[in-house]
Amino acid sequence: MSPKHTLSRAHTFPADFVWGVATSSFQIEGAAQADGKGPSIWDSFCQVPGAIADASNGLVACEHYDRWQADVDLIASLGVNAYRFSVSWPRVQPLGQGAFNEAGLNFYAQLVDALIAKGIAPYVTLNHWDLPQALQDQGGWANRDTVQHFVNYASEIFKRLGNRVAAYTTHNEPWVIAVLGHESGIFAPGLKSRATTMQVSHHLLLSHGMTLQALRAQGCNVPLGIVLNLSPTVPASDSAADQAKAILEDGRLLRWYMDPIFKKVYPQDVMADLGSEAPHIEPGDLDIIATPMDYLGVNYYTRSVVSADGSWKPQNSGLPLNDMDWEIFPEGLSQLLIRMHQDYPLPPIYITENGGAFPDALKVGQVDDQDRIRYIDQHIDALAQAMAQGVPVNGYMVWSLMDNFEWSSGYAKRFGIVHVDYASQKRTFKASAHWYQDFLTYQRQQQHHANAGKTAAITGVD
Ligand code: FCB
Repeated sequence: MSPKHTLSRAHTFPADFVWGVATSSFQIEGAAQADGKGPSIWDSFCQVPGAIADASNGLVACEHYDRWQADVDLIASLGVNAYRFSVSWPRVQPLGQGAFNEAGLNFYAQLVDALIAKGIAPYVTLNHWDLPQALQDQGGWANRDTVQHFVNYASEIFKRLGNRVAAYTTHNEPWVIAVLGHESGIFAPGLKSRATTMQVSHHLLLSHGMTLQALRAQGCNVPLGIVLNLSPTVPASDSAADQAKAILEDGRLLRWYMDPIFKKVYPQDVMADLGSEAPHIEPGDLDIIATPMDYLGVNYYTRSVVSADGSWKPQNSGLPLNDMDWEIFPEGLSQLLIRMHQDYPLPPIYITENGGAFPDALKVGQVDDQDRIRYIDQHIDALAQAMAQGVPVNGYMVWSLMDNFEWSSGYAKRFGIVHVDYASQKRTFKASAHWYQDFLTYQRQQQHHANAGKTAAITGVD
């Protein structure tokens, strides 16, 4: 083990801390038309000329649908105790309403069983963006009917997977679905309307709250929550205009989701800015959205630098950039968590995604991704610092288990700690996978020593 990248070793995490890796259905499964699966909005979006940087799609991806057993072995060999994945809604309910697809349901049931058999806790996300295209044809998340369809789908998944999973997440990153999917249009379904964006975000939140209530009424007793993409938002300059814009964007990214969930209200400044583009909210909606959650998932990658002219580019900050041109800013993770802990009555937090794309090169069967190791090491260290200040964090998951389809960047950007050769589908541990494995072994040893110490103290042995 290299002597470098040991910041994270300065901390001993609780023995029951959750250490995982994460993926999502569309990004890894492939088998886009197999066994009765219906098309999702991402299958459609990939066909739009210019939508995906390398003109690729999710037809094959990592062939996880066929290789899932070997992939479960791969996950187990990392030494993690958790795996976060998502269910493809159109795989289990091709039209998004009506009949369910037994083959699809069975796929996830088998996956869950195999994970549990290996001692890996399954963290199930119900919506990681691949909405059935048939529902988009009826307006998608902008149509309030989709809320009830989602609750029905979630209920069926609960019937099938039950209380043997570790947790259910309703939505992954509703801001991304709303804003990148319906305002900038760079993600599926590729629309460009701010009014639609805000209505979509409201329906996502509403369906989140309704799902919590429905699953609990069905006897669900595993933790339920949502995953938000959050970051500190800072102005690009000291100008009054940039500073005002940063406050508004913080409102749109963080407070727009946190306030209704934890305070039963949408932020006033964002509402005022929206004017006639504010969403339609029915009486009682906010009560449903504020249904208490068991945990909050936070995906953290970078900070947001904003300027009044609308550009989001970091302006010569001097911070290193990853292969997505995202600033590497580990302090942002501690800052974010400490601020959230001050502003909201937080339930336990899981960092459900953290990681980076770096220009990996496979050389003689090895990928020496020291930059990714440094990134993960620094972020685990930043996480521990926030925990030391009292932020309740229960787990951390690396994005991603393996290289996969990175949305509009296609396969060109690699986030995995396991390298995928797409021609052969061969998986190869990168140096970062070995590093994570060693780190987890070290954590277990620390706990072992701590426990031995406790026993010694109790029995008076030294
Ligand atoms: C997040 C997504 C995840 C992955 C990472 C890099 O926004 O949830 O699917 O694409 O970014």
